[in-house]
Amino acid sequence: MAMRVRQVHPVFVGEVTGIDLRQPLDSAGVAAIEAAIARHAVLVFPDQPLSDEQQIAFSRRFGPLETSIRKLRGDNRDRLDPHISDISNLDEKNAMMARDDRRRIGQLANQLWHTDSSFKPIPARYSLLSARVVPPEGGETEFADLRAAYDALPDRTKMEIEDLVAEHWYLYSRSQIGFADFSAEERAGLEPVRQVLVRVHPGSGRKTLYLASHASHIVGMPVPEGRLLLRDLMEHATQQQFVYRHQWRVGDLVMWDDRCTMHRGRSYDPRHVRDMHRTTVSDERSTLDQRAQPIAARVAVPA
Ligand SMILES: [Fe+2]
Repeated sequence: MAMRVRQVHPVFVGEVTGIDLRQPLDSAGVAAIEAAIARHAVLVFPDQPLSDEQQIAFSRRFGPLETSIRKLRGDNRDRLDPHISDISNLDEKNAMMARDDRRRIGQLANQLWHTDSSFKPIPARYSLLSARVVPPEGGETEFADLRAAYDALPDRTKMEIEDLVAEHWYLYSRSQIGFADFSAEERAGLEPVRQVLVRVHPGSGRKTLYLASHASHIVGMPVPEGRLLLRDLMEHATQQQFVYRHQWRVGDLVMWDDRCTMHRGRSYDPRHVRDMHRTTVSDERSTLDQRAQPIAARVAVPA
């Protein structure tokens, strides 16, 4: 059966059927998925009951994988392979974490709009999230299309922000919800990094905002002024017309392009298990290097 993609939101998001992600993917399959994600930014693959090994093998077809930062942030869970980010409320013994567990509280910041790994010098290209156990209600993930949001900005704003650089800091996003209890070791391993605010999305050749809750201020601008600008842009980019809400079903794999989207998890009753496994494909170089030497659009985007 041939792979089919159906757009499920007015501006982005494709639902992909006719493919079994447990099977090895040939280069034509990789090219087809890259073309689809270049256009749709978020791809939903329903009914894909993957093991961690299968998820890792599929993800690696799109580039080198990141390793989880759980060690850096003092999370001692060794439940999963280092290439899988543990997006669950389970501890190393597969038991539910207590409500006041520091690791659970640290993860709550995933409910702020963000882009994965924008706090790393070389951030994420794609994230792939596999639903293993979902709560009976809540726990959805929302996505925002930052290319459509950029297109809708007034020309004056586009000119004002064109060359700006933001500082992204993992600890800043956590501090926004009152979680600032970091050890010297954690602070040393998670230093702030700089990322451009506007980039050209290599997949589609379109301009896009690059935003995240990790962005704390604008370089060269008074902190309060830059922070207000970032808030305004986040508010603009997350208006309803740019947002898709994914209601998870067990077996869903959702793959998104971190270079041109933001996302956030939604809350759920912590008495229920939510077990999601994420693999993350790393980008090739920092956004500052990409602006200095833009990559030509790699993938043709069919109309
Ligand atoms: Fe995330």
